[in-house]
Amino acid sequence: MAAGALERTEALAWLAEDDEDRLEELWRRADAVRRERVGDVVHLRGLVEISNHCSRTCRYCGINARNHALSRYRMTADEIVESAERIARLEYGTIVLQAGEDPGIGAGWLADVVRRIKSATGLSVTLGMGERPREELAAWRDAGADRYLLKFETSDRDLYLRIHPNASGEPVDRIALLGTLKELGYEAGSGVMIGIPGQTLASLADDIEVFASLDLDMVGVGPFLPHPDTELGREFERGEAREVPNTALMTCKVVALTRLACPEANIPSTTALSTLGPEARALGLNRGANIVMPNLTPMRYRALYEIYPAKAKVDESALSFPERVADIIRSLGREVGTGPGGRARR
Ligand code: 5AD
Repeated sequence: MAAGALERTEALAWLAEDDEDRLEELWRRADAVRRERVGDVVHLRGLVEISNHCSRTCRYCGINARNHALSRYRMTADEIVESAERIARLEYGTIVLQAGEDPGIGAGWLADVVRRIKSATGLSVTLGMGERPREELAAWRDAGADRYLLKFETSDRDLYLRIHPNASGEPVDRIALLGTLKELGYEAGSGVMIGIPGQTLASLADDIEVFASLDLDMVGVGPFLPHPDTELGREFERGEAREVPNTALMTCKVVALTRLACPEANIPSTTALSTLGPEARALGLNRGANIVMPNLTPMRYRALYEIYPAKAKVDESALSFPERVADIIRSLGREVGTGPGGRARR
């Protein structure tokens, strides 16, 4: 691919820059590269959170297995296909099926669901099912899944192991698993959280280098949002000053630098970013992002997929958001995508 032009030292300098006037230069460059390399179209992905069961104990995540206060759900195949039909009626090109790492989602069952979505709607299908064995990833690819999301959260190994305990058995290397996904012919997406306690600016500069070296097709970055029912959420509330704040500004810097490092990647303005204020989603789109992922999980399940607090309360969970989002995009001078919006290649 056409590599991005971004030196690590330059990325680090921008990450440390606090002068709002000088930062205008970063925003302007990211927006120009975005326009030139992926155009003015904003692609919409309809997100459906199909199960909040999770066998993992990630210390940041509200649906981790140790949260016994949460009721668990798993959507039926018919409910998922109905959501896909709604997304197709909205003229979005892609459905994203997301879940906790749920052993109750069998490989054959999900392969059938993917086949049903494909034949009923022709939508592009993106999966985010966590760390699954190669055979299962291959079966879903054979069934027609196009893309897979697996965030590596941070490239700092010690920090990663602290926030994301391994499942029993061999540790899984998410970066290696992203290579497997690409070998299987998926478009592969990843990303990190911004403002994890213990994170450094240097490690964020590393993260951006890893995005480019993996030649990722999609990169999503969002602020770490402390959840009171998690170990890391409670630690955050006790904590002192941090090198990396979990702010919209710091998240936008990483979005902009990611656009410079990975000029052709699909980069969402994330839901997590939009929780930080009414203008935050637009800032993301003006500073390098070209994707929005409206939540189309059926309302009765919404509040139960609370990976971070107040997630179900952001404006996009209003019933009308999936219809209104097109107006928001046009008000920014951008166009609304209707096709699959795969990764641009030149
Ligand atoms: N704050 C922000 N993002 C979170 N995620 C999970 N928990 C949190 C949190 N507390 C993100 C992670 C994960 C994705 C599904 O949601 O990046 O990969």
